[in-house]
Amino acid sequence: MAGVTDLPFRRLCRHYGAALAVTEMISSRPQLSYHRRTLQRTDHSGEPQPRAVQILGVDPGEMAACARSNEALGAQIIDINMGCPAKKVCKVAAGSALLRDERKVDAILRAVVEAVSLPVTLKIRTGWDRRHRNALRIARIAEQAGIAAITVHGRSRACGFSGEAEYETITQVKKAVSIPVIANGDIDSPHKARQVLHETGADAVMIGRAAQGQPWIFRQVSHFLQSGTRVASPSLDEIATVMVEHIQELHRYYGPQQGVRIARKHIAWYLQRLAIPRAYWKTLLREEEAMRQLEGLSLQLQQLRQVA
Ligand SMILES: Cc1cc2nc3c(=O)[nH]c(=O)nc-3n(C[C@H](O)[C@H](O)[C@H](O)COP(=O)(O)O)c2cc1C
Repeated sequence: MAGVTDLPFRRLCRHYGAALAVTEMISSRPQLSYHRRTLQRTDHSGEPQPRAVQILGVDPGEMAACARSNEALGAQIIDINMGCPAKKVCKVAAGSALLRDERKVDAILRAVVEAVSLPVTLKIRTGWDRRHRNALRIARIAEQAGIAAITVHGRSRACGFSGEAEYETITQVKKAVSIPVIANGDIDSPHKARQVLHETGADAVMIGRAAQGQPWIFRQVSHFLQSGTRVASPSLDEIATVMVEHIQELHRYYGPQQGVRIARKHIAWYLQRLAIPRAYWKTLLREEEAMRQLEGLSLQLQQLRQVA
């Protein structure tokens, strides 16, 4: 997830039991390959295997070259983004806009599969809009092209993130292909994960937004799926430790200036989940210095412990 699944967050999710955590999308445009953001996104230091990298683009040759260079940089799975609804991405016919051009989809998938000796996976939406849901055809094209697994977010591009994800299309995709199908969209609890697996017959679920501010959700979901019983929610002490270590890691990884900026959204996600009213911590989000940000965070946690 762009702006979310950087190396520190991927490591945290994997620590809590996520079987796979994919990088932020990496543009295949060659002029961006030495861009600071691209280099950060292709860094796998200390990342558990398998390391999955998501690439984005429209040109089969550029996508193939991008996949190859990521293979050389340590990627072990290449994931292709055909789900991003962002205007600036769709304007250049990339991301979910590709779903409207099935021949192009075929060309890109074949080029990437041929370029690397790694499993190549695909992430899609159900279609461009509700009237043009072609996930089934895309999935068949993907299977024919040698794609190893396909993730379907149960919304069309036009749906953005509104309304509820629908799983019927995912069910149909699962019936139509024999490669593994991963169901995605609005999975935010162990029960929901089990329900979606049951309803769609999918081989796995992918969790996005529900991991923000609670990376331990992977432990809760995997425990529930394996045992049918719920694991206790993390204690306030565990949450506090995770938060502080995560923010410190962001400061270290990005350096104090950029780290403080990137940490803000994670702090907000954590504190929202702890149901602390925003009024108490909105000034914390304006801190410019790493130490002060950490002190402000510790203060919030201390106050929370006192009322708990
Ligand atoms: C901030 C944000 C960034 C995202 N970036 C990506 C991305 O780079 N690649 C991708 O395949 N999906 C991306 N997504 C979509 C998610 O992977 C996922 O498909 C979507 O959020 C639905 O799943 P969820 O309900 O579990 O969040 C992004 C979503 C959000 C909210």
